[in-house]
Amino acid sequence: MTKVIIDCDPGHDDALAILLAGQHLDILGITTVAGNQTSDKVTANALKIVELMDRTDIPVFRGAQVPLLRKAIHAGHIHGETGLDGPDFPTPVKEVEDRHAVDFIVQTLMAEDDVWLAPVGPLTNVALAIRQRPEIVSRMAGISLMGGSLTTGNSTATAEFNIWFDAEAARIVYDSGAPIKMCGLNLTQQANATDREIERIRNQGNRVGEVVVQLLEFYLDAGERVTGVRKAALHDPCAVAALIQPDLLEFEAMHVSVETRGELTYGMTVCDYRHLRGFGSSQVDRGPLRQEANVEVAMKIDESGFLDLLIDALGRY
Ligand code: BDR
Ligand code: CA
Repeated sequence: MTKVIIDCDPGHDDALAILLAGQHLDILGITTVAGNQTSDKVTANALKIVELMDRTDIPVFRGAQVPLLRKAIHAGHIHGETGLDGPDFPTPVKEVEDRHAVDFIVQTLMAEDDVWLAPVGPLTNVALAIRQRPEIVSRMAGISLMGGSLTTGNSTATAEFNIWFDAEAARIVYDSGAPIKMCGLNLTQQANATDREIERIRNQGNRVGEVVVQLLEFYLDAGERVTGVRKAALHDPCAVAALIQPDLLEFEAMHVSVETRGELTYGMTVCDYRHLRGFGSSQVDRGPLRQEANVEVAMKIDESGFLDLLIDALGRY
């Protein structure tokens, strides 16, 4: 089974990412990072999720409480006051580990081979881990992340939330040399839940599914308020699906880095896909300013295959 550390800020779609991983991957630990809500709230939410899935054997580590340089601006307008609004979760009994998330990431990657990181929140913890112990970059199997976009953003015209929340951290991670698979908005907006998926999950008739139905109803309401359309992109489980069933996605290799200074473009993932537009297809055309590809950018996802994978996983609890 593929070994993974899920770094997250749950978050409705983060919860789905964890539930999907729980059926198909060996989750070595869950690390939390401030993002969708405060560190206190997202850490409590991670504990609620492992209790919901009856996997209290999975350790939960609390990580960065603020971005590296900027002020935290959370996403309560999408994920609600708790970060996981909708169902009434019992107060978790399980406790967070004493060890800091960054130490857990570093120590696990140094001790174990073939471990993937699946960051589905801001990249603060991953950046701090790379800064603490740069050797982890060559130790890890890779990073399959949800963040950024080949096209437009959501927090701003050009920036996606996870990157925009802490662009300096994202810059460290993208420029680190780590093998990165990126599921950005251009991809995740092809993987949507509607009332039809809610009905499918409800019809499976299990307790976890019923909680997910309540999560998705809240999430769809929020999505509808923002976009006017009753559907919601299932961002975070895409990065997990990429590790479980990679043939659901199509990737293109290209150079990607993160804008940290732009007045209008702070947090933009600048993706060099000129070669896909007919420029630089030969070495001569590449020119001196073209940098080598460092990221596999997900371009397309088989939406119905992805939804089948996710709904099937939810039904197994
Ligand atoms: C990302 O931001 C968060 O709100 C979601 O959990 C997802 O990780 C989408 O931009
Ligand atoms: Ca998230």
